Amino acid sequence: MFDLPIIDSYLLKLFRFRTRKFLRMDEAPGQVPPTPKNGEAGYLYVHIPFCEVLCPFCSFHRVQHRHSQAVRYFAALREEIRLYHAAGYKFTGVYFGGGTPTVEPTELVTTIQLIKDLFGITEISVETNPKDLRPEVLEPLRAVGVTRLSVGVQSFDDQLLREMERYDKYGSGAETIERIRAIAGMFPTLNVDLIFNQPHQTLASLERDIAVFKSLGANQVSFYPLMTSPTVERRMSGGMGLPDQRRLRQFYQTIVQRLGTEFPASSAWCFTKRGHGLDEYIVAADNYVGVGSGAFSYLDGTLYSTTFSLAGYEQRIAQGLTGIATCHRLSETDRLRYTLLVRMFGLYLDRVSAERHHGKQFFRKLWGELLTMRALGAAREDARGFRLNERGMYWLMLMMSAFFESVNNYRDAMRAHVKNELHEPVEMCAPVGGMASAAVSAE
Ligand SMILES: C[S@@+](CC[C@H](N)C(=O)[O-])C[C@H]1O[C@@H](n2cnc3c(N)ncnc32)[C@H](O)[C@@H]1O
Ligand code: SF4
Repeated sequence: MFDLPIIDSYLLKLFRFRTRKFLRMDEAPGQVPPTPKNGEAGYLYVHIPFCEVLCPFCSFHRVQHRHSQAVRYFAALREEIRLYHAAGYKFTGVYFGGGTPTVEPTELVTTIQLIKDLFGITEISVETNPKDLRPEVLEPLRAVGVTRLSVGVQSFDDQLLREMERYDKYGSGAETIERIRAIAGMFPTLNVDLIFNQPHQTLASLERDIAVFKSLGANQVSFYPLMTSPTVERRMSGGMGLPDQRRLRQFYQTIVQRLGTEFPASSAWCFTKRGHGLDEYIVAADNYVGVGSGAFSYLDGTLYSTTFSLAGYEQRIAQGLTGIATCHRLSETDRLRYTLLVRMFGLYLDRVSAERHHGKQFFRKLWGELLTMRALGAAREDARGFRLNERGMYWLMLMMSAFFESVNNYRDAMRAHVKNELHEPVEMCAPVGGMASAAVSAE
């Protein structure tokens, strides 16, 4: 893997050093955590780990789809969601991610309906793949009130789709274009996921992906840099190859410039057509609860992770517990840093809101970070706070991917403990923190 320019790698090293303790997870009891102190409603994240095909580049917790296992899993999910409701949780929105939530459409709709009945939620986001863009899957989702559909496309370039092992199962670029055009306007927000800096992606291929996206009638694109982990790199080093980090800046600038004013940035890697604004859940809310296997929660400064064992998840739910297996209470300064990361990634740090949540110390303790941001010309300060500019967006994109890569390393370590369940080679990595490995291996 090639290195970034000096300033970028220096910033990343500093960022990694400052956030190195974020994921030092310890064993946690499985009870529902206390509701957030300020009484604010958070976001609910629901993880569906099943996929028909397991893509080599994918860094998420996913397993081969099996119908009977998935049906049991959805039933367990609904039990877990009821536990949070009984404990007094309130949510403003729900995000179904994966894996592929649409592998079991009927179960998905039943689960959405339950969440609506319990929490009165009206913001509902669902991830899917291009093959599932069929009326029999989408009509029930529209009828139950889904407001955002996010389609994992990755690229429209057939050569890259073949390298990603998606061409045969999820369709060619041309087929995907046709399927997306056919559903434009069906949901208030239609998001397309694309990945840049793929190993054999050229600038011309990226430019074509952007031009194709703009012609689809979709109103949002999440443009992720390819993020890896040791396991992902081992899988990719076969057919896909490894990304060249030196191209990141040029690719990113191309994306921002080509999307232009038609799709302004709503975070450092999400671009939304004017007038539509549904952000990623970690940006949209201070607190979020993750349910299912391999999901994360962040509540009042504590990070929680649920078990990565699907069998262990079912057992926990049967015992009246949540899926939570590990947690880490962030230090006071780390909590401020986490807020700074998430807010700046969402492009704006509001002074009043930061002080309301963290007190005056927010700006006192983070003076070093804020000074660096100003000195580098990454953000503009106004009366209300700090607004990230294009230069700063690039660095926030780098930092958020470094953060997600540390999450990927944690996932690798947790998945290594349950590799017999995953039916794919998962190599053993160094455990990430404290008791976390014991917690999962004890399933
Ligand atoms: C969890 S997937 C769900 C979408 C659906 N399963 C599909 O692939 O069509 C959500 C998105 O994560 C992104 N993603 C997965 N692995 C990634 C990686 N290693 N680096 C960057 N983005 C990745 C892809 O863009 C993908 O569409
Ligand atoms: S990219 Fe999507 S379909 Fe592929 S393995 Fe990941 S979650 Fe599953």
